[in-house]
Amino acid sequence: MELVEWNDSFSVGNVLMDAHHRIFFETIKEFSKFPDKNDHEAIRKRIEFLIEYAAMHLGAEERLMRQANYPDIDEHKATHEAFVRELLSVKESFDKDPNSVTADTIMKIMQDWLVHHIAGSDKRYMPYVQNMQGSAH
Ligand SMILES: [Fe+2]
Repeated sequence: MELVEWNDSFSVGNVLMDAHHRIFFETIKEFSKFPDKNDHEAIRKRIEFLIEYAAMHLGAEERLMRQANYPDIDEHKATHEAFVRELLSVKESFDKDPNSVTADTIMKIMQDWLVHHIAGSDKRYMPYVQNMQGSAH
């Protein structure tokens, strides 16, 4: 699959959120360089990292939306919850049968979600966050 690099068009107007999003992209890239794509132990660690990192990031993003009085926070949170459920179901499949999940599957889920979620839902809170910050930075 073709890897997407973070660039300014993915900016959501907040330095911390941008930094988190970049780490997701870096994680996908790092994952793509694994010498052995079927290394179960490495895949397990990656899934666990993604679940933890996603929980941390999504929580921080929800706090930011609340601070900025973003009106569609509930709808946005629901998309986060659906994503977390998707990650957990990947973990469940992996735990049941490690051969059922490949590094490419995880990379694809992550990248599809990031690109669509940032460009769609995240961009919608951008003006509220920028307004709260008092400047476009
Ligand atoms: Fe989000």
